[in-house]
Amino acid sequence: MPMNPTPHPVTEAPLRFWHRDAVVERCHVPPDRTLLDLLREDLRLTATKEGCAAGDCGACTVVVAEAVNGCLHYRAVNSCIKPAHAIDGLALWTAADLAQADGTLHPVQQAMLACHGSQCGFCTPGFVMSLFALYQRTVALGQGVDKHSAMEALSGNLCRCTGYRPIVQAACSMGEQPNRRLNETPIVVALQALADTAPATHRSAYQRPTDLHGLLQARAHHPQAQLLAGATDAGLWLTQGLRRLPQIIDLTRVAELRRVEHYPQHIAIGAAVNLQDAFEALAADRPVIAPFGERFAGWPVRQSGTLGGNVANGSPIGDSMPLLIALGAQLVLMAWRKGRAVHRHVPLEQFYTGYRQSLLAPDEVLAWVVVPKPLPGEWLGVYKVSKRHEDDISAVCLAVQLHVENGHINAVRIGAGGVAATPVRALKTEAALLGQVWNETSLQQAQTVIQQEFSPLSDLRASASYRRQILAQLLRRAWLESTGHLTVRLEAVA
Ligand code: FES
Ligand code: FES
Repeated sequence: MPMNPTPHPVTEAPLRFWHRDAVVERCHVPPDRTLLDLLREDLRLTATKEGCAAGDCGACTVVVAEAVNGCLHYRAVNSCIKPAHAIDGLALWTAADLAQADGTLHPVQQAMLACHGSQCGFCTPGFVMSLFALYQRTVALGQGVDKHSAMEALSGNLCRCTGYRPIVQAACSMGEQPNRRLNETPIVVALQALADTAPATHRSAYQRPTDLHGLLQARAHHPQAQLLAGATDAGLWLTQGLRRLPQIIDLTRVAELRRVEHYPQHIAIGAAVNLQDAFEALAADRPVIAPFGERFAGWPVRQSGTLGGNVANGSPIGDSMPLLIALGAQLVLMAWRKGRAVHRHVPLEQFYTGYRQSLLAPDEVLAWVVVPKPLPGEWLGVYKVSKRHEDDISAVCLAVQLHVENGHINAVRIGAGGVAATPVRALKTEAALLGQVWNETSLQQAQTVIQQEFSPLSDLRASASYRRQILAQLLRRAWLESTGHLTVRLEAVA
């Protein structure tokens, strides 16, 4: 019997972006069409490959650029989980766009060739595109590439069979090739023209409001629409869950929410600030956060995914929430009601009501994450345990914030992930520690409490008993580090 195909919703506003010296315009693109499908199936641009379709392997990496103050800002993104409409108004490069018309290779490609970094046809285009984004951010501007920045840029690219050393070598030697500077001026002009003639999207199935007022009104009128930021998790609902998203509100263009605002006592991170920028802002006040932030997925996910999206998504293994809970973060939720914008503040640990459930009302938007600045004497430890160092999801995550005076614990906040249906605050463990002398005895008591406080699941990442054990051991590590007994950071060992 013939099946009735599900009707594809379409957007009334065309999708337009810059590619190969021209503006590409496509009409009637469904709101949940992925960029990879648009490239490979609609435009027949097959240099970009599909590996995992889950944002894990980097085979599908392309580079997008946005014009900011007359310059281009380049990002490597996973096209498999990126909605095609998310690149509206941007410039795009795929692996087929780097060599010149006469066949002269781009310095990135030449370096890969010289270092024997070229591998199979699935992973190599993705590696090359991650390196192209790195090249544009560094070598093209006259800067060198060291091993750390090479590893960081490649952290979202996996090879299942050979190795990374020649690719890292290629990254570090890109500057030895003749420099190739892109002439950005015509691209910036073309992107500005696209921005100046951008059609309104408020009637479209894929809405891209550009200010907070527009976002709140869109939300008020379409409470059933899917709010989307970087789509680094929602993209998997499409490719792995085979879900459809007939209506999307994309908040990544909302100017007010793209800022990190600094106040005397706190910083406010807009919901559209990407994870890379958000972790950098947090690490400016608390440097211990920097290496933790580098372990959040891979580079392309940190460039696309947002802190607000990670929090709103509410995954129990989302890495930012245990940290933010330990720091005492509050969320600002906003809505448009009775003709005006209203807001409320919610402590993060009170936001979640169940597995991926939250207090967010259908007409509300998570607008800001407000993080207190450190008080004098704060000690912070934040730990992630996962099977792989880069580009992986936590089995357990623990963050501990302490104030110890004269050997006594004056204040303590502990956030944990991977041990319950939601990210959680370890209130019982905190109570066991508060006011105690911070020594082996109080540590052992707290270890017993934290092992009993939660009922973690066994799954493919870890067993329940392993998770309990790890909680206790991470607490011990916090004690060792905060009392100056030991520095056991993997980065220090390397
Ligand atoms: Fe693996 Fe996109 S295909 S990250
Ligand atoms: Fe391409 Fe390993 S996945 S060579």
